[in-house]
Amino acid sequence: MRRAAVLAALLSLARPLVAEEPPKRSAVWDANCTVCHGDDGRSQTEEGRRKKARNLADPKWQASVSDGRLTSSIQRGHDRMPAFGRKLSGEQVKALVAEIRALVKAGS
Ligand code: HEC
Repeated sequence: MRRAAVLAALLSLARPLVAEEPPKRSAVWDANCTVCHGDDGRSQTEEGRRKKARNLADPKWQASVSDGRLTSSIQRGHDRMPAFGRKLSGEQVKALVAEIRALVKAGS
């Protein structure tokens, strides 16, 4: 009984700490894209700057490209952006395209 109460108290303390930092990006993004494009898609990472990766969260640029173009860039690569067609499934790429679109919708 007492132990349960202590546990409950500890859990209620821990929960807000965990909730403060929800993962910003999907696991697929974290594993494959963050190194260049960062958590926010703005590509301000060391690697992103070196390769001159673009700001994927730019609404003007987003409005100018189709989902088909994003899909093909991720699968086949684009300039210095590596191809992920062999590494990721079609479903995963589709989810990434949605994730890129959401960067703008979220206003970030
Ligand atoms: C090694 C660094 C690197 C990694 C890793 C990387 N990118 Fe890129 N990405 C780039 C660079 C550099 C560009 C700019 C190339 C261009 O568009 O001319 C770019 C451009 C893009 C574009 C725009 C392409 C276009 O059609 O204009 C998209 C979309 C994109 N990346 C998505 C992703 C996604 C999703 C991942 C993870 C699966 C990823 N990138 C991983 C470097 C990277």
